[in-house]
Amino acid sequence: MKTAIIYTSKHGTTAKVAQMIADRLIGDTVSVIDLKQVKSPDLNSYDGLILGTSIHAGTPSKTMQRFCNDNIEALTQKRLTLFVCGMEQDSAKQQHELENAYPQALYQHAAVKCFAGGEFLFEKMNFFERAIIKRIAKTDKSVSQIKEDEIDRLVMKNVE
Ligand SMILES: Cc1cc2nc3c(=O)[nH]c(=O)nc-3n(C[C@H](O)[C@H](O)[C@H](O)COP(=O)(O)O)c2cc1C
Repeated sequence: MKTAIIYTSKHGTTAKVAQMIADRLIGDTVSVIDLKQVKSPDLNSYDGLILGTSIHAGTPSKTMQRFCNDNIEALTQKRLTLFVCGMEQDSAKQQHELENAYPQALYQHAAVKCFAGGEFLFEKMNFFERAIIKRIAKTDKSVSQIKEDEIDRLVMKNVE
């Protein structure tokens, strides 16, 4: 099975999660594609697609939104998995972020959907981001809350 993991990432966490998924998909031929570098990946080359974006201020990246809207037909023809990275702690809000990150047609078509957690990387934030997150998180220490169990679940569902 040929799988592409197509992602967008601001500070590197979604890129990290994409690579963690790729490393665990043993037996598949996996390409990890940064949408900011490869704007129009050839979707015909793959049997399965895994899309990932991070959430900032409640919204997914514009690049991922555009990619999904431009390729909605092709994406609904594939075995599809969706994930988001975020630091929201409330599970109902996590679910809401995940559902709203992708077009409804894709969300309904996807066999696997996953809120994969995230990281606050203060060293990579700009002045404004640092100020906002310091106020919300009440700390200025970098923290990683990547959900390895959710990544394992995503991978298991992809190899079933
Ligand atoms: C300015 C800012 C706003 C954020 N807003 C949200 C948010 O609304 N919901 C959420 O779940 N996570 C939010 N996060 C957390 C990011 O989704 C998290 O840092 C993620 O790991 C970033 O992944 P990336 O480096 O791949 O972009 C925010 C982070 C920053 C810096």
